[in-house]
Amino acid sequence: MKKQNLVVVGSGSTYTIGMIMSLIEEKKHFPLRTITFYDTNAERQEKVAKATEVILKDKYPELESFTYTTDKKEAFTGADFAFVQIRTGGLAMREKDEQISLRHGAVGQETCGPGGMAYGLRSIGDMIDVVNDVRKYAPDAWILNYTNPAAIVAEALRREFPDDEKILNICDMPAAIMVSYAKILGKEIWDLVPEYFGLNHFGWFTDIYDKEGNRLTDDIKRAIKDDGFLPEDAEIVNDPSWIKTFKQVETMLTDFPDYLPNTYLQYYLYPSQMVEKEDVKNTRARQVINGREKRVHELCDQLISDGTSENAELEVDIHGCYMIRVAASLAYNTGDTFIVIVENNGIISNLQDDAMVEVPAALTSGGPKPFAVGEIPTFEKGLIEGQLAFEKLVVDAWYEKDYKKLLQALTLNRTVVDAPRARKILDDLIEENKDYWPELSSK
Ligand code: G6P
Ligand code: MN
Repeated sequence: MKKQNLVVVGSGSTYTIGMIMSLIEEKKHFPLRTITFYDTNAERQEKVAKATEVILKDKYPELESFTYTTDKKEAFTGADFAFVQIRTGGLAMREKDEQISLRHGAVGQETCGPGGMAYGLRSIGDMIDVVNDVRKYAPDAWILNYTNPAAIVAEALRREFPDDEKILNICDMPAAIMVSYAKILGKEIWDLVPEYFGLNHFGWFTDIYDKEGNRLTDDIKRAIKDDGFLPEDAEIVNDPSWIKTFKQVETMLTDFPDYLPNTYLQYYLYPSQMVEKEDVKNTRARQVINGREKRVHELCDQLISDGTSENAELEVDIHGCYMIRVAASLAYNTGDTFIVIVENNGIISNLQDDAMVEVPAALTSGGPKPFAVGEIPTFEKGLIEGQLAFEKLVVDAWYEKDYKKLLQALTLNRTVVDAPRARKILDDLIEENKDYWPELSSK
């Protein structure tokens, strides 16, 4: 097995330590020669990097080198894989997005509705730069992108790099949901074969099989109806917000029993309930700042001062493992099935070709080979088409710097709907995003 050179872009992220633990856990599937961290924020990166050094010394002694840098050339030269996870504007801007939406009575969420739009308009430019920078120094590297809002980012990258066949956008939510299915079934996530369709954070499992071909869908539905549904992945198992979110799956399944929903559909199907539950002074961003971010930074400080990982509570989560198994399948041509984001081109036969859809695909060294979905029913198709129009309009607006298209996008979005409200939210978002968004023409 050829050993890989990996660069982690956005290495100051609160998910990076988890990713390192996953790389250690998965080293048999995806052996590494080098790991390089790249981030534009040297200070944020340094803490995570110094802690990573301690972990790797203990648990990955065979690694030839670990380095961290803010220099693009140093970071990307020689890379086989780039794992990209950046957050333009940081958690501070995520909090603003969530609060502005909520103040106008709309869902305040990282990737859904106005929050997703605002974050998308911040991310697109930086993501395009990252891809250009990686390509300059590592023309053949696989770029695996987790950057949110993945649907909007994937659409922008599709337009900007139509011929680049080595960019793959992925989200861990379907996998995190499958971890809970696996728990219900007394199996491991890797034993399950999903059938799934939708857009990112906007999709449904139509069936779940095991590797022997047994259909397990009804067992899962029954268990959810009888016993409810809970997160099981280490990263979210004890998080009250995620517990609430997973519980909502039972309600969704009662109202719409045909398919097993992605948890993110709660924001589109129950927007008023979601708004009622929220506290503008303690939105999800604030919870993450006071929770995960604080916890990870304390963990890093401990690792650095101890100089050993012996006493540290380190956990492997699905976020990293899924990305790594995806990478392994691409690198070693194993053709395993994962849910990824690709251009439709007939996969969902009654949906436009140029949609970026989230579907299962066999991953080979020639890229993703998605499985046909066929025709989808009217309800899901209607929902998808509205959301897709929103996503397309946001990307149009970024390129064309067009206020009108953003107003259309928000009015179309199920979390907003009302045009005067859309205008108020948009105007507040413009004010707060002056440093990040393109300057918009024509009000
Ligand atoms: C899931 C989604 C990600 C999202 C994250 C937010 O993992 O797939 O796209 O960024 O949840 O989680 P948080 O705990 O930050 O709200
Ligand atoms: Mn996601």
